[in-house]
Amino acid sequence: MEVFGIYKSLLGIVIIVFLTFGGLPAQEIQSTCIDCHGLLEDEMTYPVDSFTNDVHNRAGLGCVGCHGGDNTAEDMLESMSEEKGFIGTPGPLEIPELCSECHSDPSFMKTFNPGLPTDQYSKYLTSVHGKMNQDGDDKVAHCSSCHGAHGIRPSRNPLSHVYDKNIPSTCATCHDDSSYMAGYDISTGQLEDYKKSVHGIALLEEDDLGAPACNDCHGNHGAIPPDAESIDKVCGICHNNNMVDFEKSSHADYFSALESPACETCHSNHLIKQPSTKMLTGEDPVCGECHFEDDGTGALEAAELMANRIDSLENAIIGAEDKLEEADQKGLFVNDGLFALKDAQQIAFKARTAVHTFEADSVVSITAAGFEQITEARNIARELLDNYVFRRKGLAVSVVVLLILAFAIWIKVKRIESRRRQ
Ligand code: HEC
Ligand code: HEC
Ligand code: HEC
Ligand code: HEC
Ligand code: HEC
Ligand code: HEC
Ligand code: HEC
Ligand code: HEC
Ligand code: HEC
Repeated sequence: MEVFGIYKSLLGIVIIVFLTFGGLPAQEIQSTCIDCHGLLEDEMTYPVDSFTNDVHNRAGLGCVGCHGGDNTAEDMLESMSEEKGFIGTPGPLEIPELCSECHSDPSFMKTFNPGLPTDQYSKYLTSVHGKMNQDGDDKVAHCSSCHGAHGIRPSRNPLSHVYDKNIPSTCATCHDDSSYMAGYDISTGQLEDYKKSVHGIALLEEDDLGAPACNDCHGNHGAIPPDAESIDKVCGICHNNNMVDFEKSSHADYFSALESPACETCHSNHLIKQPSTKMLTGEDPVCGECHFEDDGTGALEAAELMANRIDSLENAIIGAEDKLEEADQKGLFVNDGLFALKDAQQIAFKARTAVHTFEADSVVSITAAGFEQITEARNIARELLDNYVFRRKGLAVSVVVLLILAFAIWIKVKRIESRRRQ
């Protein structure tokens, strides 16, 4: 019996040892690459430090997964020998092919992470970066420019260079560096503009992960500038209604004929600002890009009318809101009014989208429905407030009547008392 107990404790120890070490990447426990490079300095040792949480380390692929060599040999020359497949430090022109040896191999990748796409390399080859890399340009982005080489993490990890919020600064390491980009024929400063845009503010300051980073418009691996013909499709991924209205309008053809990029002509690309009716009227209306006063199309008049309807509806909404607020503060039940107000707000939103039909009639008829809701909201508020005043007046009258009654009773009582005394 006692012997059996000893076996049991031994088995327990074995299980603990297995659970402790079995879960770790097997190769790293005895990697001579790590042992030796851990003792070196600067650029020879940093790969070891950043490798701890690298996705490849966690998958047990080790240094040899990318560099080749023999991670069991103690001897430096043997460990890093060509016979053992050691490739040294891969250069910018070799890296895409190196990474894709695994990443473009679906059957290999499936055994680790079946959900991971395996099209990065083929898409990369279609991008401006990939094409120029193939032509021997070693300054364009390759896999490690965007992902790093040793601290690679899944893109949903906030520490990944390609986590949504980190993408703009990752792209900007090159694209905002005017001396690095000096030899090329494209502008820099996209990040500066982007940071000031509705999208940049939403993503970087308000943590709205639904707002686009650079890759949402340019693609992750197919990084190419959208051409004039396809920009509305790119914006339309998220702004579907604007895209549909625009594409159905006569202006889709006009824009194409003029080679004017769809959304960008009026909103720009990186410095997209909060839109308002000021874009339609005033000194420099967006329609003025192509239209002028009395050009026979009625465009500027249409723009003026749209702005007028939208502004009036917005003002009416504010007015109704004030009235409902007043009623609310008096403790009245304003819910029905708030529903009507909310409908009006949604309609105003639709009206702003309908600008993209380029037809004033469309905006006029949508806003008309909004004014109906506003009338309803105001009527509800007015009725509640009128009732309130009426009830207040009623209350005042009752109080006065009661006071008079009380006074009369008091006089009566006094009289009775004095009669008794006599
Ligand atoms: C016993 C020590 C030692 C071992 C084991 C070792 N290295 Fe090195 N490694 C060095 C030293 C020292 C250098 C820098 C001198 C040189 O370039 O030869 C170096 C250089 C490198 C370089 C850059 C060299 C180049 O050609 O660009 C890479 C990459 C590298 N090692 C990867 C590895 C990998 C992967 C392993 C395991 C398979 C490994 N090392 C094993 C000591 C070692
Ligand atoms: C996912 C592939 C990958 C893995 C895994 C990997 N490396 Fe590298 N390594 C690279 C690439 C790509 C470069 C060259 C680009 C760079 O330095 O950013 C590089 C460069 C190096 C260099 C040269 C650094 C320099 O600045 O000159 C050393 C040394 C090195 N790696 C060692 C290691 C060691 C040690 C390990 C394991 C702890 C390791 N690497 C794991 C891809 C990898
Ligand atoms: C111009 C920058 C850039 C380059 C170059 C680049 N990537 Fe990516 N990569 C990204 C971005 C951005 C994401 C996605 C982030 C997200 O999911 O929002 C990504 C995602 C990935 C993923 C996760 C799966 C997926 O497809 O979403 C893998 C794997 C990957 N890249 C590998 C590679 C390989 C291999 C190369 C080289 C052939 C490469 N990347 C080149 C920016 C880049
Ligand atoms: C030896 C094969 C191999 C090589 C070479 C390799 N990878 Fe990987 N990589 C993998 C595997 C396997 C995974 C998935 C690990 C997991 O999810 O369990 C992975 C995961 C990734 C991820 C995380 C994907 C995600 O979002 O989940 C990125 C990014 C990545 N690799 C980029 C690179 C880059 C960049 C290179 C070249 C410098 C490279 N890989 C070279 C095998 C490799
Ligand atoms: C390692 C530096 C580097 C990084 C990082 C980088 N790029 Fe580039 N990119 C370049 C260079 C260099 C060019 C080539 C310029 C040219 O087209 O002549 C280029 C070209 C482009 C172009 C084509 C421009 C045109 O009109 O020809 C786009 C779009 C682009 N990059 C977007 C991105 C995005 C988005 C990211 C981040 C996800 C990114 N780049 C990351 C260096 C980089
Ligand atoms: C909302 C979509 C959107 C976002 C976000 C975006 N871009 Fe662009 N980008 C465009 C469009 C559209 C063009 C212009 C294409 C054209 O007119 O041919 C463009 C053009 C470019 C170009 C070509 C040179 C130029 O300025 O015309 C580069 C490089 C570029 N973008 C990089 C970036 C970088 C880096 C980021 C992130 C900081 C970024 N873009 C964010 C849509 C976007
Ligand atoms: C990945 C999704 C996505 C893409 C692609 C995208 N946007 Fe946006 N956009 C958003 C989000 C989310 C907001 C909301 C930000 C906020 O105001 O909080 C927004 C806001 C806006 C606004 C301000 C709307 C308002 O009422 O405040 C305009 C204008 C705009 N985007 C235009 C564009 C244009 C033009 C493009 C293409 C060049 C584009 N967007 C591409 C997601 C996207
Ligand atoms: C001819 C100029 C013009 C073009 C082209 C244009 N817009 Fe607009 N857009 C405007 C104006 C003007 C407003 C402001 C309406 C307001 O607020 O009163 C606006 C407002 C918006 C808004 C905020 C209102 C809403 O609908 O939520 C978004 C988002 C938007 N545009 C996206 C787009 C997208 C996406 C495209 C391309 C499919 C595009 N725009 C094309 C002029 C334009
Ligand atoms: C990129 C140039 C461009 C912009 C910007 C533009 N238009 Fe036009 N628009 C045209 C062209 C081209 C015509 C056809 C002119 C003709 O038939 O002589 C046109 C015609 C019209 C017409 C006449 C009816 C029709 O559909 O043919 C109206 C109304 C109109 N535009 C309204 C607007 C409004 C409102 C805006 C701003 C929100 C605007 N346009 C912005 C190019 C533009």
